[in-house]
Amino acid sequence: MTETSLLKQALRSVVAGQVKAASDPYRPVWHLAPPVGLLNDPNGFIQHKGRYHVFYQWNPLACAHGAKFWGHWSSADLLNWRHEPLALAPSEAYETHGCYSGSAVSDHGHLTLIYTGNVKYPDGSRTAFQCLARENAKGEFDKTGPVLDLPEGYTGHVRDPKVWRKGGHWFMVLGAQDLSLQGKVLLLRSDDLLSWEFLGEIAGSNLNGLGDFGYMWECPDLFRLDGQDVLICCPQGLPAQADRYLNTFQSGYFVGHLDTEKAKFPHGEFTELDLGFEFYAPQTTQTDEGRRLLIGWMGIPDGDEFYQPTVENGWLHTLTCPRELTLVAGKIFQRPARELQALRGDMQQWQGLADDAPVWDVTRAEVDIETVQAFSADFGGDLLLRWDGDCLHLTRKNRRTGLPEERVWHGSLRKLTVMCDSSGIEIFINDGEAVMTSRYFPVLPARLNFSGHYPIALRHWLLADCVL
Ligand code: FRU
Repeated sequence: MTETSLLKQALRSVVAGQVKAASDPYRPVWHLAPPVGLLNDPNGFIQHKGRYHVFYQWNPLACAHGAKFWGHWSSADLLNWRHEPLALAPSEAYETHGCYSGSAVSDHGHLTLIYTGNVKYPDGSRTAFQCLARENAKGEFDKTGPVLDLPEGYTGHVRDPKVWRKGGHWFMVLGAQDLSLQGKVLLLRSDDLLSWEFLGEIAGSNLNGLGDFGYMWECPDLFRLDGQDVLICCPQGLPAQADRYLNTFQSGYFVGHLDTEKAKFPHGEFTELDLGFEFYAPQTTQTDEGRRLLIGWMGIPDGDEFYQPTVENGWLHTLTCPRELTLVAGKIFQRPARELQALRGDMQQWQGLADDAPVWDVTRAEVDIETVQAFSADFGGDLLLRWDGDCLHLTRKNRRTGLPEERVWHGSLRKLTVMCDSSGIEIFINDGEAVMTSRYFPVLPARLNFSGHYPIALRHWLLADCVL
């Protein structure tokens, strides 16, 4: 289909559905959600000429995965976002089944997108091209087309380029599946973003001392953080182990040392980035003043997603809030970006036994909980958070099966920072040592009910709406 007809179709779908989607009480007020249709991965997260841009995998035509477009928001402050004209539509022969995930760079002052053109064949096989598009003076993106074909030795699952500049070169990491169906991360180098030299496999299943570690690694991201190199990736096919790897697909990181000359990345163990029910495909960027920010998809491609009530109103999924990353003793800490504090209204404070805690509105709120012993907190009937002195339990009923499901964190709990929006919750443990992210669909307005016989100290802020 031509670009014009795809754009027209998308526009018709937005015009037809956006009022209904906007009136959904579960629509977030300070998280990013698609005007209509399905959102998945954040793409092209960048601060360019002082302005933040977040692109996203978008099917504007249905609440289903399908041919993906790139939606686009921009913001001066990470709070108030403007939905920009659609950036990429899958109109060309090299991207018939989607303009898949990728990243953005500033190249000689031009915002430049590097993404995967995904092509599926009738026999079920597929191929992938890594493609370029550059912003023109009208703010549209002109496609250069493929700059890299499928490298030899890999299946058609090669995608999600993340590109950065270092020492006068461009580098790219790519998620890949080799011919023995092992997930890998590839490293490439370029001087002009147009021709790419394959340097090698830097991480993956059966590499760097890892055993069998999944059949595909999606959405890699590699960056320097507090003096170390960090590789984020999303391995698919890890079996659940006790309390680890409980979601259908994982999202985590390795800390190591990248040697671009030798194309080696010796690294430590894999750590999950988030322990909640919905978190996947995060992407990071470095701000002008040097902070490393991460934004993720508050979703997982697992099929249960289609049981979310927002589908009835024609939209599905949100992004997480932007988070600031630091590395403490080899572990990533994540905190809500400091800009989000500007959303806070008046603070209410309370201290006493959990049973006596006031019932606060948490539809759009931040709640800080200080505790050591035990408590439980019901976030409006759909999600229960319980600390038993050793273990933090997040439980809910699975929307598809109706059965209870649980995620846990073990450690020594001092403090929780709980960021709530109409249908999303992000629980930051001990100032970001671990995070649990989940969608939830409480009885609205959502009331927070504490119970327990031990003391807790609480702070509560209602959060203001952002312009979305
Ligand atoms: C991750 C992912 C990417 C792919 C995109 C397609 O959720 O599968 O690997 O590029 O989504 O929408």
